[in-house]
Amino acid sequence: MFVVVGANGFLGSYILRSILENTDEQVIATTRHIPDPDGQNERIQWQYCDVQSEKSVDALLEGLKAERSVSVVYLAAYHHPEEVQANPSLAWDINVTALSRFANKAGFVDRFYYVSTDSVYGDSVDHYHFREDDPLRPVNFYGHCKCAAEAITVHLERNVVRLPFLISPSLAGKKHFYDKIVDTARQGKRVEMFSDSFRSTLGFDQAAKLIVALIQSGQKNPVVNICGDEELSKYDVGLMIAKREHLDPNLIIPVLSEASEEWNQVQRAHSTLMDNTLLKTILDIDRIRLFEEISIS
Ligand SMILES: NC(=O)c1ccc[n+]([C@@H]2O[C@H](COP(=O)([O-])OP(=O)(O)OC[C@H]3O[C@@H](n4cnc5c(N)ncnc54)[C@H](OP(=O)(O)O)[C@@H]3O)[C@@H](O)[C@H]2O)c1
Repeated sequence: MFVVVGANGFLGSYILRSILENTDEQVIATTRHIPDPDGQNERIQWQYCDVQSEKSVDALLEGLKAERSVSVVYLAAYHHPEEVQANPSLAWDINVTALSRFANKAGFVDRFYYVSTDSVYGDSVDHYHFREDDPLRPVNFYGHCKCAAEAITVHLERNVVRLPFLISPSLAGKKHFYDKIVDTARQGKRVEMFSDSFRSTLGFDQAAKLIVALIQSGQKNPVVNICGDEELSKYDVGLMIAKREHLDPNLIIPVLSEASEEWNQVQRAHSTLMDNTLLKTILDIDRIRLFEEISIS
């Protein structure tokens, strides 16, 4: 059985889909907003869980104790850097304290994967691709929360995966940046996108497929980067979306990050690139490129 904590979000929706497509397992999907049961797959059972509430975590975990084999994918997070900076105590409570309590109480589960971010690394100088054992130098409080949660997870001998910027059409009943780009360009309006900040970007579907494959592989590395091969700016990604959605590429406008108001609200790493050699070795993958099917043998 899989248990996806925070299953109703952008990544969670794709993880559910990947589990259904790539395994025969049943799934417990947790959220604080149970979706309409109509049209839901019968292998998915939705359950309320607020990770800040010890009572609701206890209720979830108690129900899992009789299960033969349980893999937890932990996604719940308070993660918009601006909100985290404005509410650091709440962010620490959700991202670190609640994760610590949950992972500690879930000692009986067979596998526990904590989903982290490239933000733990900080800035890539000269297009350096960070490896899993590089020092962590986050530049904002969101990154510090993720570092603390990772450390707890690793010291409990559980697993961490670090993800880059993710982008795909949303399955989650709320619009993602991808959908907003498409909507805006379809109205004939221009979309400004940073051309000078680079990430090892992946689609949500690709990240979900790789996470599920990693869990199923039984691999033991405490931390694994999950990311693409390419160095992509958001402008590059915008052009790729324009191509696949048949939008006018001239509506995607390159802008410099430091000129933008959004960029200056919270300190951010200018570029963060990750190395995916370990991931490709574990899963025997040759090539991981944004929006391309990933072939896992
Ligand atoms: N998106 C990216 O580009 C990206 C990149 C790197 C890492 N990540 C990590 O991936 C994970 C999922 O991110 P996402 O993009 O899917 O964001 P998202 O759509 O906001 O999903 C996060 C989920 O966390 C849940 N959550 C928040 N507070 C909670 C609480 N107190 N108790 C229980 N659940 C709570 C929310 O569930 P409900 O509101 O349904 O209860 C929400 O669905 C996060 O850990 C994020 O840091 C994302």
